[in-house]
Amino acid sequence: MGLSTLPIHKITMQQPSSPPPSAAEASSVWIRRPAIVVLIVAAVVLPCSVIYLAGPAAPDVLSSSSARWKRTLPFLLVPDSAAAANGTNTTAAAAAAADGVVSDHPEEDNEQARLRKVLEGAATEDKTVILTTLNSAWASKDSVIDIFMESFRIGNGTRGLLEHLVVIAMDREAYERCASFHPHCYALVTEGVDFSGQKNFMSAGYLKMMWRRTNFLREVLEMGYNFVFTDTDIMWFRNPFPHFYPDGDFQIACDHFVGNELDLNNSPNGGFIYVKSNNRTIQFYKFWCASKERYPGRHEQDVLNFIKRDPFVREIGLQMRFLNTAYFGGLCEPSRDFNKVCTMHVNCCIGLSRKIYDLKLMLDDWRNYMAMPPERKISEGHTWSVPKNCSFAPLQH
Ligand SMILES: *[C@@H]1O[C@H](CO)[C@@H](O)[C@H](O)[C@H]1NC(C)=O
Ligand SMILES: *[C@@H]1O[C@H](CO)[C@@H](O)[C@H](O)[C@H]1NC(C)=O
Ligand SMILES: *[C@@H]1O[C@H](CO)[C@@H](O)[C@H](O)[C@H]1NC(C)=O
Ligand SMILES: *[C@@H]1O[C@H](CO)[C@@H](O)[C@H](O)[C@H]1NC(C)=O
Ligand SMILES: *[C@@H]1O[C@H](CO)[C@@H](O)[C@H](O)[C@H]1NC(C)=O
Repeated sequence: MGLSTLPIHKITMQQPSSPPPSAAEASSVWIRRPAIVVLIVAAVVLPCSVIYLAGPAAPDVLSSSSARWKRTLPFLLVPDSAAAANGTNTTAAAAAAADGVVSDHPEEDNEQARLRKVLEGAATEDKTVILTTLNSAWASKDSVIDIFMESFRIGNGTRGLLEHLVVIAMDREAYERCASFHPHCYALVTEGVDFSGQKNFMSAGYLKMMWRRTNFLREVLEMGYNFVFTDTDIMWFRNPFPHFYPDGDFQIACDHFVGNELDLNNSPNGGFIYVKSNNRTIQFYKFWCASKERYPGRHEQDVLNFIKRDPFVREIGLQMRFLNTAYFGGLCEPSRDFNKVCTMHVNCCIGLSRKIYDLKLMLDDWRNYMAMPPERKISEGHTWSVPKNCSFAPLQH
């Protein structure tokens, strides 16, 4: 039996397979419940943890308290209070977002209940999920997200992993796009911030989005879920789980790998991280998020580079491992052996159109490799045709 049929919770334990969850099970997450009751409860219980809302209208049953709705309901599409008062509509996204948020944990707020529901729907038996974040700039048709999904389908033993993938949408458009092709979408809402546009590397919006993401991953750990976080511009060609270190708590891919998984001189890349949920990792994520204040203007990866040597990390006993680029490569340092590569990241590349161009070439390289008979797969020295357009050079305008 091929790897392609193995759900990852089995693979991590190196055991024989069982069938993946049925389509009916997967889609049960999406069975609608009366949304309005939930929405009203939400308005009462939600803290001010939420949102920027953009779009045309809110349901008129809610319009009298539009300011509050604006803060509390994800993607209810309320650009400002005037328009909200004018609103007469709920959107598909609002209804979907409100789906199934009746919580088994009454003390939880609406956001947490919604997240828990999505994670439960996607997790393996051992509570592991694969997470990626998406904003509308990367969500359009034929853009990065489509290429990302395609890699799972043409990878060796990766298609089944899609059952465990949760797409974290950073804005409404991304959420709606996700909902159009994938059963596990979560709308991550952030008060007063619009994450929808293309974020230029290191702009204020980019920094904010990266820190929001790190903080969100902390929440996932606190809910008891292990995760692989993957950037959407990483191609999944093989199942990575057999290549994680069994004793590692926090395992991260590298732009440059120095040859030893324990060496703190490795240059980690936060685009691909495997983290087990335990007290050490939860403390570590809290520490990481808090360290933002000590290094203003730095993104989360820079700060990780500072804190990886911090005595605190040793004190809590966090087992940090750096993943070998032979398996977890990228354009900075490619996985040279096609017979080993698990993932390839279009890192060391500035500009969305360049990334898309090179990602497609990468898929073509992989398809050519997969189409070869087994003996040629092994005997021939396959090489990537990328980086082609990708570079750090500033984009022309
Ligand atoms: C309310 O909606 C109507 C019709 O869609 C529109 O013409 C009007 O400008 C809206 N008013 C406000 C305050 O948005
Ligand atoms: C609400 O919006 C949806 C999508 O934009 C539209 O299809 C539907 O007709 C609208 N419903 C009402 C009552 O305006
Ligand atoms: C996928 O990987 C397995 C195990 O490594 C291998 O036996 C198989 O030939 C691969 N499939 C393809 C189509 O390359
Ligand atoms: C964390 O530690 C506490 C006690 O210090 C323990 O009760 C709890 O089970 C631990 N949680 C995890 C996730 O390991
Ligand atoms: C990629 O580079 C080629 C030339 O090397 C150029 O013709 C093409 O327009 C570039 N494409 C993108 C999307 O940047």
